[in-house]
Amino acid sequence: MKKLASSDQLSTMGSSPIGHEKIDIKGKVSAISAVFNAKLAPQASSAPRQEGISDIQKKRVVLDTEIGLLTLGESIGRGAFAQVYKALLWSKNGSTVAVKKFSVDKVDKGVYQSIQAELTLLKRLNHHNIVHVLGQHREGSDHYIIMEYMENGSLLSIIKEFGSLPEQLIAAYMDQILSALVYLHSEGIIHRDIKAANILLTKDGDVKLADFGVASAIQEGTERLSVIGSPYWMPPEMIEMTGVHHTSDVWSLGATIIELLTTEPPFFKTNPMSAMFQIVQEGPVIPPEASSELKDFLSLCFKKNPEERPQALTLRNHPFIVNNNIMVLFVLVVLCFFH
Ligand SMILES: Nc1ncnc2c1ncn2[C@@H]1O[C@H](COP(=O)(O)OP(=O)(O)O)[C@@H](O)[C@H]1O
Ligand SMILES: [Mg+2]
Repeated sequence: MKKLASSDQLSTMGSSPIGHEKIDIKGKVSAISAVFNAKLAPQASSAPRQEGISDIQKKRVVLDTEIGLLTLGESIGRGAFAQVYKALLWSKNGSTVAVKKFSVDKVDKGVYQSIQAELTLLKRLNHHNIVHVLGQHREGSDHYIIMEYMENGSLLSIIKEFGSLPEQLIAAYMDQILSALVYLHSEGIIHRDIKAANILLTKDGDVKLADFGVASAIQEGTERLSVIGSPYWMPPEMIEMTGVHHTSDVWSLGATIIELLTTEPPFFKTNPMSAMFQIVQEGPVIPPEASSELKDFLSLCFKKNPEERPQALTLRNHPFIVNNNIMVLFVLVVLCFFH
């Protein structure tokens, strides 16, 4: 019986010495599939053949990326312009990653260059609450962004499944997102698209910011995609196009808190145009059921003038965040004491 190549050997097989040569990945996959098939197929059977591993394998897309060969699996999410897949990395003990695919045809050249510049920067970022970008890959008109895989999906999927979240949990999540924003802002990056769908959850309950920069860069630069962005989380300065500010993310964080508390961002029942009008004219209504600490926190997030809105660092010390975290700490200490 032939021995299967080790994952390291497979990666080497897939990489070209020059790096830009076209590689016959499909041929290699079929060869590997044939080995699988020889191992798994019954020796002699007259029964009609069911779809085997090799048939499924042939339908799979295999990419030879800068971080190694990977096989695309099921779709795990769809955003405004991209499809996100779970993928199996052949090296690194076959760990799973998330791969976001979008079509380069939909963005103009200048915007595509700015996305690439931003991705290069994002690859350098290293923060516990920011989804780690591992690499990128281009094949024809398709561009792929390879990221760490977040097992529990987005906070939007969490509220869809479990309904609105308690304030204590929201405070714990927002503390982590504020920590990510402090870091991001210190690196000179503004996220510009904070909402529950772009905050992802690990199986241990840690949250991480995802999808930064790219979506807004695309929407800014292309008329074709300009209608796709959702305005419900947007601050007045982005709607009026008077310039994005670090604290624009703070406004969107406030809208996200309302989304987590009530399952919808402000003005969600209104159509996008009148929602934008109301955001600029009146500002969001703070939910009456919120605690006084949260009401105060939200009123700071929704200060119309971005210069007057507090920075992420200041908000991390707000009683809504601090007191709720002290509560969590207190419960943990009590639990440890009685254990
Ligand atoms: N790293 C990841 N791990 C797991 N799921 C992800 C990951 N990245 C994105 N997703 C899923 O795909 C959805 C869309 O991804 P996103 O990056 O927000 O795309 P878009 O820019 O098109 O909005 C997310 O809401 C989430 O459900
Ligand atoms: Mg998104």
